[in-house]
Amino acid sequence: MTLIAQITDLHLKPRGLACYRVSETNKLAERAVEALNAMDPRPDAVVVTGDIADQGDPREYVVAREILAGLQMPLFLLSGNHDDSELLKAAFPDAPGFDQGPKDRTRYVAQIGDLRLIALDSSVPGAGHGTLGEDQCAWLDEALAAAPDVPTIIALHHPPIRMGIHHMDAINLHDGDRFAEIMERHQQVERIICGHDHRGIVGTCGGKVVAIAPSVGHQVVLALKEGAPAQFNFEPAAYYLHHWTPESGLITHTAYVEKADGPYPFWAGEGVSWPGY
Ligand SMILES: [Fe+2]
Ligand SMILES: [Fe+2]
Repeated sequence: MTLIAQITDLHLKPRGLACYRVSETNKLAERAVEALNAMDPRPDAVVVTGDIADQGDPREYVVAREILAGLQMPLFLLSGNHDDSELLKAAFPDAPGFDQGPKDRTRYVAQIGDLRLIALDSSVPGAGHGTLGEDQCAWLDEALAAAPDVPTIIALHHPPIRMGIHHMDAINLHDGDRFAEIMERHQQVERIICGHDHRGIVGTCGGKVVAIAPSVGHQVVLALKEGAPAQFNFEPAAYYLHHWTPESGLITHTAYVEKADGPYPFWAGEGVSWPGY
């Protein structure tokens, strides 16, 4: 069994500042770290799918180091559009995979238990949308061809699909068609995991399941109407748990950061028999 937690879109700020004036993202990220450390069984690793900082500010990476140092499991990082890949790599020189690839690209291959993780860098300096570029696509194709029998998760910040939230679709992965071609060719890809949309969303790309994780901070409002404004809210912060066994393949669970009321036992009443629940 291999268990990977995916958290995303932390949008950390310099100490004392809130994100967009009202989202206390540093505190929300600390709360997520506590939730992950309390898990039993503990995940084998945590993957953070980008937007770790809010404005790619060096002070935000100092905060990121402080907060993420609290995690009691290996940490795998990659850039989002709010990050500066070079600063992120410099802030986490010991992060697995950060010794691979160019110093301004967070792309690498790693093994986590039975799963292979391929992290991509879809960030484009100064832009909200993402691209991988031909070099990185060719590298990905080769990396997949090198281990066709190892179940693999591909991690990238920008979703390679359109989700119907128009203002987010405008800044998705712009070379998603090229990415889809590569996905079609490699049967071992068990999941494509993304962030960016600050909502839990599922789709497919090149015949593979795409799982876009909710944020551990604020969420993007579910707005499927054309022309709907870009807004966020405080729907429950959540993360994904990717659970792999040879028998079931990869199963993705949603877990909430905050504790909910309960648990309660299933109970039908005194003397009442109940076939199940
Ligand atoms: Fe984000
Ligand atoms: Fe993003």
